[in-house]
Amino acid sequence: MMRIGIFGGSFNPPHLGHRAAALFFQQSLALDEVLIVPAKQAPLKAAPGTPDEDRFELCRRTFPFPVSDMELRRPGVSYTADTLRELRGQYPQARFFLLIGEDQRENFHRWKDWEEILSLAELFVLPRAGEGRDGFAPMDISSTRLRLKLLLGEDCAAYLSPEALAYIDEKRLYQPLTPERLHHSRCAAEAGQALALRYGADSEKARLAGLLHDCAKSMPFEAQEALCARYGKPFGPAEYASPQVCHAFAGEAFLALECGVADPEILSAVRWHTTGHAGMTLPEECVFVADLVSADRDYPDVEHVRALAAENLHAASVYILEYVFAKKKAQGKPVHPDSIAWYHALKGVI
Ligand SMILES: [Fe+2]
Ligand SMILES: [Fe+2]
Repeated sequence: MMRIGIFGGSFNPPHLGHRAAALFFQQSLALDEVLIVPAKQAPLKAAPGTPDEDRFELCRRTFPFPVSDMELRRPGVSYTADTLRELRGQYPQARFFLLIGEDQRENFHRWKDWEEILSLAELFVLPRAGEGRDGFAPMDISSTRLRLKLLLGEDCAAYLSPEALAYIDEKRLYQPLTPERLHHSRCAAEAGQALALRYGADSEKARLAGLLHDCAKSMPFEAQEALCARYGKPFGPAEYASPQVCHAFAGEAFLALECGVADPEILSAVRWHTTGHAGMTLPEECVFVADLVSADRDYPDVEHVRALAAENLHAASVYILEYVFAKKKAQGKPVHPDSIAWYHALKGVI
């Protein structure tokens, strides 16, 4: 009787940890075949932001096993029970094994038709990272963390197959920053770190927030809008009146929802880097100012703003806000109300 293993997931992107798991699965159970099944949309999760065909191709370039597009072809949420039923029809004689993670086992009774799944396949539970077992040490990486590393332009060769990495680079997947924007982000990271050191904020967090602050800048407005709505902070009239500030709000949503960033200081520094708000914290203000004094900036009075920033952070913020107000007035465009609120708060203390 043919023994077939099934390994499903979002694979966004698939990494060497997945590959090692699939091989361990095959060897442990002496499987004749392992079928890799990328999900169109995993239950209880938002649809992956990466196109189906790219995740499929990345799977092909990661696993030494066949990749099935059966879930990608099925519209809507991908349920394992549907997949197993379909496979049972195709291979009436085979014995099926389903690979799941330790964390998935705890919630298995919440899966759709879980009892039927157990009648169609036997479960094989993979040990959690840090809990090596039977010669298998899970790789300490997740797709979420990998997406953040790729976004930051870090070297990911240790986590991805060379073929998958080449495809990601070629198609610029998971890299929303253009090379120019990445350069600006690195300069802003350096400036943010320096200001944080100067004024006593957490310099590592300021550096990271600086690197990430414009991550949603190239995203179409509709995509920014959808992300913020999904994040539970939908746009209001002030955002629709000032669409150019919205990449900051979308950046926060993107980092939290798509890249696993949970640090509130980093998220809020990204969120408020375009408008500011009345209760600006020191780390938020460091990133706000860093964005305008970074080494790549060359507007006429940038040296003056840099000198102000080195001397008195609030004075630099006031100067920047007054500049923004004047520019908006000349363009006949409204100023975001959060910027006005912060300006009044600053004038009260400066
Ligand atoms: Fe920005
Ligand atoms: Fe920026």
